[in-house]
Amino acid sequence: MKVDVLLGLQWGDEGKGKIVDVLAPDYDVVARFQGGPNAGHTIEFDQKKFVLHTIPSGIFNPKTANLIGNGVIIDPLILKKEIDKLKASQIDCSLNLYVSRKAHLILPTHRLMDAASEASKGAAKIGSTLKGIGPTYTDKMSRCGLRVGDLAMHDFRQRYEALKNKHLAQISQLSFDYSSHLIDGDNFETYEQKWLEASDLILNLKLVDSEYFINDRLRSGQKVLAEGAQGTLLDIDFGSYPFVTSSNTTIAGVCSGLGIPAQAIGKVIGVFKAYCTRVGSGPFPTELFDETGEKMRVIGHEFGSTTGRPRRCGWLDLPALQYAIMLNGVTELVMMKADVLDSFETIKIATSYLDKQGNSFSRIPFEACTTPMNPVYEEFAGWQHSLRSIGSNKEFTNPLKNYISFIESRTGIKLSMLSTGPERDQIVML
Ligand code: GDP
Ligand code: IMO
Ligand code: MG
Repeated sequence: MKVDVLLGLQWGDEGKGKIVDVLAPDYDVVARFQGGPNAGHTIEFDQKKFVLHTIPSGIFNPKTANLIGNGVIIDPLILKKEIDKLKASQIDCSLNLYVSRKAHLILPTHRLMDAASEASKGAAKIGSTLKGIGPTYTDKMSRCGLRVGDLAMHDFRQRYEALKNKHLAQISQLSFDYSSHLIDGDNFETYEQKWLEASDLILNLKLVDSEYFINDRLRSGQKVLAEGAQGTLLDIDFGSYPFVTSSNTTIAGVCSGLGIPAQAIGKVIGVFKAYCTRVGSGPFPTELFDETGEKMRVIGHEFGSTTGRPRRCGWLDLPALQYAIMLNGVTELVMMKADVLDSFETIKIATSYLDKQGNSFSRIPFEACTTPMNPVYEEFAGWQHSLRSIGSNKEFTNPLKNYISFIESRTGIKLSMLSTGPERDQIVML
């Protein structure tokens, strides 16, 4: 069988978690392949709301195995808190959660380094979630990181102390006073103590050699869904560098983050919002600074699932969407949060950009990371009715049909689902 892939086509928070949860009953395995607890994937059903950071969004389907792949980076304390929270809602992760031994560990000092690095950048900061993502992937690439499998080794504590001390020396060079810095409300020593205790507990989870785990299941006819975190425009190679995360959020990350060959990839499901949001710094050509942007933020509850920060809001950006579809080989599109635009009289889509000199771009130029790009818009009449109770595309009105068919014709890809609210059952299958 194949590995279908679901990933975000914008700057994250597209609604990936909801769609993975909707699709999970069709899959034997859901696997996260990159990122870490910088992700916040929201799932709502039966008046309950869960936000997952490290655990795959298939966890609510007891028949689906959920794998945290080798490409993911794990903070044992954050993972433990997630497991405990789910347990309080009678969801027992010990039954269907599997963790790759090759996944790298986020150490408490990685969190300090993230904070020190951001503080040293001043106004040029990335706007990191401060979960230690950049420093942990840096250590992985520098070949000095620690992995989940190392926790079981007799010399783990020794290796932990050596890496910690190296980090503390690096932090002191950035003149960062970590003694007064709080990590999730705790000082360093308290956080470290809790982290070490949580690390011991991780050893009780189902630790696996995930590349064998997944390939064995594919060979035995099982279906796998790979769940992306962040979004294409935050990819380390193709995002708006340096305002990106530190992993490949695009399709390439699936092979390296799970240990599967390219020919194992099946469908590529690209998830995007009917408009755009971004949290953190970096270019965002269609960003709105007026009451229209504020309206999107309020109606769409656009506040970060991980940090609670207000998300920047703006119109859909077609060159960026086309770029994301090209990079990932998207085979079907899922449009999220169309209901947020229900009351809008006019809706816009950017179809190209103009730079200050008046040069026109229908593709994202290299300079877009450093030079402001002014969007050129196409305008659409809003549908101006509630989508919340719509059950099938037979109920779509002409303005909604026009909006969808414009996106489909310009991207060459059909929508397979339209999401009309945060709840699991607020979805129209097309
Ligand atoms: P993810 O990181 O891609 O999983 O997305 P997040 O969970 O960070 O952000 C998506 C937010 O939108 C969450 O609060 C969801 O509950 C919510 N959401 C998802 N789909 C819809 C939708 O179709 N309509 C509305 N109004 N909210 C949605
Ligand atoms: P999900 O999976 C939205 C953003 C941060 C920051 C940049 C780098 O929920 O879609 P990092 O912590 O990785 O060093 O931050 O990336 N970012 C996200 N934005 N959704 C996410 O994940 C994100 N993960 C990271 O805001 O701008
Ligand atoms: Mg999110």
